[in-house]
This record gives sequence, C-alpha cells and structure tokens, in this order.
Amino acid sequence: MAVTISLEGKSVLVTGASQGIGVAIARKFAEAGALTGLAARNEEKAADVAASITAAGGQAFALKMDVSDPASVSAGMKAFLERAGKIDILVNNAGITSDGLILRMSKESWDKVLGTDLTGVFLVSQEAVKSMIKKKIAGRIITVGSVVGLMGNAGQTNYSAAKAGVVGFTMALAREVGSRGITVNAVAPGYIETAMTDELSAEQREKLSAQIVLGRLGTGTDVAGAALFLASDAASYITGTCINVSGGLFIG
Ligand SMILES: NC(=O)c1ccc[n+]([C@@H]2O[C@H](COP(=O)([O-])OP(=O)(O)OC[C@H]3O[C@@H](n4cnc5c(N)ncnc54)[C@H](O)[C@@H]3O)[C@@H](O)[C@H]2O)c1
Repeated sequence: MAVTISLEGKSVLVTGASQGIGVAIARKFAEAGALTGLAARNEEKAADVAASITAAGGQAFALKMDVSDPASVSAGMKAFLERAGKIDILVNNAGITSDGLILRMSKESWDKVLGTDLTGVFLVSQEAVKSMIKKKIAGRIITVGSVVGLMGNAGQTNYSAAKAGVVGFTMALAREVGSRGITVNAVAPGYIETAMTDELSAEQREKLSAQIVLGRLGTGTDVAGAALFLASDAASYITGTCINVSGGLFIG
C-alpha cells in the first residue's frame, strides 16, 4: 500500500523561495496539499514560482520578506497571516554565503552572513511562534542548516558558525515550545545541485562526488523530502534534532 504525506488544510511559509532549494521545498509542500507562501526579497521572482505551482494545481502565493530586517519580517508575516489565516509550518530556508579565509574576512562579510543565516532564523521563528501560540497551533519549525555547521569548512568560518548556531537554536527552541506541541528541527544538506553547481566542470563535479558516500551531489528535491518528512505526522515525536541530508559527505 502506498504511503503518502498529506498537508491538506495546512499553511506553510517558506523563506528564500525565489530559487534553488526553497523552490524545491515550496513545490513539494504544495504538492502535498499545503497552502504555500513563498517569501523572498524579490517578490516578483517568487510570484513567478507561485504562478507555476498554481498552474500545476497547487495553492501558492508570494510575499516580500527580507529575513535579516526585523521590520520586513514583521510586515511579511502580517501579509502571510492575512492571506493564509494561520501558520502551521515555517521553513527557514533563506541563506547566503560570503566566503573568505579568516585573515581576509571583513567584519561586514561576517555580519552579513550571521545576519541572514542565524539572526534571520531567529526573527522569522519568533514571529511564527508568536502566531502559533496565540492560535494554539501545534506547529512545525524546520530550518535549513548545512553540514558545514556540523563539520566546518575552510573559507567559511562565518557560514559554518551561523549554521552551527542554527543547530543550537533548534535545540533550545525545541525545549521552549515543546509543551505547546510545536516541534523544531533542522535539516543539514551537503553539496546540492543549484544554479551555482551547474557551472562546475565535469572534473570538479567528479572530485566533489568522490567525497560523497552515495557518489553524487544532492538535489533540492532530496532536501525537500527531509523537510516534508519533518512536517508530516510521521515525525510528530521528533523535535530538537537535525537531519543530515548529505549523501554521507558527513557521517557522525
Ligand atoms: N546549495 C547547497 O549546496 C547548500 C548546502 C547546504 C545548505 N544550503 C542552504 O540551503 C538554503 C538554500 O540555499 P540554495 O542553495 O537554494 O541557495 P540560493 O542562493 O539558490 O537560494 C537562497 C535563497 O535565499 C534568498 N535569500 C538570501 N538572503 C535573503 C534574505 N535576507 N531574505 C530573504 N531571502 C533571502 C535568496 O534570494 C534565494 O532565494 C540556504 O540556507 C543554504 O545555506 C545549501
């Protein structure tokens, strides 16, 4: 018998949903029947994705949100709630990198990455928890971290610190809101195929794949599958954890 995940009647907000992994997550959640809000700094880009989801029979809409800006987060959440009525699931996906070796890393680069990848997660989660508690919703908060937050990566002290911070944030918030029935988890992708990896040469791709136990880069759909699982009833007894979605790039 086929087992399917249904999110009918649920509303989900996905941040950074104008491209890449965020789009794959938004599509997967909409396919599962959720009303899906795609938040992005560039609302028009997110609106194009939302239109393609709607054309495929899903329910989706776009909204503007810069996760690093408290006023934008609060306005974006207000717009989401006006449209969806409630928030059942938040997927914190928005993230940036600004790589460099520590001796050359500017404070600006450090602040930018921490401001989006960690403070952004705090700001949006705070708004979501506020609404979930007010409406007595046993919601789900899922954050896209990275394996570099678990294993480190040279040239990414800022990004690794932010993504490790996401794991600590997830564990602490899970402890705070568990009594309200809200679960808080993270997923930690490894190397995922994106517009950026499209530019890799065959040789570079082979070198990367050789580091991965499963022998290939992951896809946005691989990450979306783990997020969908965490949002489903099948994961109702899971909180405060981080699922490693790296094909074995990191095992530990
Ligand atoms: N691609 C990978 O190999 C990989 C690996 C591990 C983790 N991740 C994580 O997955 C998530 C998605 O990454 P991706 O590969 O799809 O990257 P991407 O650059 O294609 O997409 C990131 C999205 O976040 C948005 N974003 C950035 N800053 C924002 C802000 N301040 N407010 C709102 N939106 C903002 C971007 O506009 C974009 O839509 C990120 O958190 C990233 O750190 C990616």
